[in-house]
Amino acid sequence: MQFSMQVIKTKKVLTEKLNKLGSSLNSGLVPTMGALHQGHASLIRKAVEENDKVVVSIFVNPTQFNNLEDLNKYPKTLDADLHLISEISEDIIVFTPEVSEIYPKTVVPKIYDFEGLDKVMEGEFRDDHFNGVGTIVEELLIVVHPTRAYFGEKDFQQLRIIQKLTEIRQIPVEIIGCEIVREDHGLAMSSRNERLSKETRLKAAFIYETLKAAKIKFGTDNALSIKEWVVNEFKRTNDFELEYFDITDVETLTPIIEKTNNLKYRAFIAVYVENVRLIDNIALN
Ligand code: PAF
Repeated sequence: MQFSMQVIKTKKVLTEKLNKLGSSLNSGLVPTMGALHQGHASLIRKAVEENDKVVVSIFVNPTQFNNLEDLNKYPKTLDADLHLISEISEDIIVFTPEVSEIYPKTVVPKIYDFEGLDKVMEGEFRDDHFNGVGTIVEELLIVVHPTRAYFGEKDFQQLRIIQKLTEIRQIPVEIIGCEIVREDHGLAMSSRNERLSKETRLKAAFIYETLKAAKIKFGTDNALSIKEWVVNEFKRTNDFELEYFDITDVETLTPIIEKTNNLKYRAFIAVYVENVRLIDNIALN
């Protein structure tokens, strides 16, 4: 396939290109690992609407995977990704570095202190995952130096950690969280959905249905009893294995038992279906 879009592989060429465009223009960065779907498309569209120039990075970041099998299985669909991007705008700059460009010496993450945000939920089950995410996002923010960077709320914990990263590293950028995009029946869009059979993909709507029911219960019940209810709901199905369900406040991501007035809460869930790990979350108030 031929595209007139700029596809750049090195930091040097990217920096030259961005400098040529001029520093007075607003710029938006959309970091991705490829295998793009409509969730990514919504981030890219928003970035195009809000900025004069947009960089989409496609890089399967090895340091955020905690097992080699998951890394090797990660779908690589560059042609389709470029097609999706070019349909949004041919002016987008696509950055697709090799691993050696990002990790010239050793493929290890930097270690950050995210003040506990990385220790719960995804962090509890995925060692070093958020150090890996922090390492690549910091690198991209330094190279692209965007006015705004866009992340999906499906990975809400990641979004909070990236906000923390820019605070502790004092990186001047506006981090924009974008609403979850869902398939027709409610399953949150994810590159991993492609690995599910058609039948299970439909059944996985159960995850969002459970989150919506938890949201209704949040009006009257305490967090602990909602958690118990969710655990029991999952015990009753043979198709899904619940890894965690937690209700946390959105600032600290600390799981709660009772709610306090004036704080914002979200419910978070991770589930295995056909050996595929799916996550989702919902705003409760
Ligand atoms: O959300 C993702 O796809 C990745 O974690 C990110 C932010 C692109 C970093 O590799």
